[in-house]
Amino acid sequence: MHRGKGMKFVGDSRVPAKGKFIPPKDYSEYPGKTEAFLPNFLLKEWMVGAVFLIGFLILTMSDPSPLEKEADPTSSGYIPLPDWYFLFLYQLLKYPYASGDYKIIGTVIIPGLAAIGLLLAPWLDRGLERRPIKRPIATSIMLLTVVLMVYLTWESSVTHNWEQSEQQGKIVKQVEIDKSSKGYQLYSQNCAGCHGQNLEGGVGPALVGKNLNPAIVSSMATKGGGNMPPGVFKGSKQELDVLAKFVSDVSKK
Ligand code: HEC
Repeated sequence: MHRGKGMKFVGDSRVPAKGKFIPPKDYSEYPGKTEAFLPNFLLKEWMVGAVFLIGFLILTMSDPSPLEKEADPTSSGYIPLPDWYFLFLYQLLKYPYASGDYKIIGTVIIPGLAAIGLLLAPWLDRGLERRPIKRPIATSIMLLTVVLMVYLTWESSVTHNWEQSEQQGKIVKQVEIDKSSKGYQLYSQNCAGCHGQNLEGGVGPALVGKNLNPAIVSSMATKGGGNMPPGVFKGSKQELDVLAKFVSDVSKK
């Protein structure tokens, strides 16, 4: 018997079964146009798979994903950013009517309607037409969605402060900090929100390893500078000195 005899083609399920049943031809009736699954076809699949696998291996080795410092669930200074494919949802939450009091709109209603719409699409749109141009409603909704997603992703990426993101994720060395000291208390109340519980950085840069002298720390704490606002330190002159000495000491460790 010819190899593969008895094997049947699976019909195209999208074509409505009208009229009488026409039995599909056997694959041996297409000499030269078909091939055996084993080993010919499978071997080709494997070869393509191997090319992609090796390609990905080379990519991950030549451009390793950037590692940030260890995640710290207690740090309120770290602002996480979703991966690129969720940036559009992230951006959505920055608009007034999708955030704050209305965050249910941005987090549940809009994404929910989109997901449900996608799920129900086969029932909502039962047209037999397959050319996109003949399905204006479905096509325009899809195009609009794609345009919106691209726009939001782009908007999110150009308005994001990438420099700050890099700062907050930087790996800094761990230093011993006397958390019972007066200096740490003052630091914790005034500065930790931005510079991290361990001076490791957050919204503001890491202070560890910066070799700061007390005068600079006092000046930053009162007058600010660069992206740091002035007047963040609330306390007396003596306390400022204690804080400055503490931060300076830690920054030199
Ligand atoms: C609102 C957030 C915020 C708070 C609160 C804050 N900082 Fe900053 N700090 C920053 C930012 C942002 C920078 C980076 C400034 C720049 O270079 O643009 C910075 C920079 C600094 C620097 C300079 C670091 C360097 O790399 O040279 C010092 C020192 C400093 N802060 C000390 C303090 C101290 C001390 C306190 C507490 C009294 C404090 N900061 C509180 C945001 C903050």
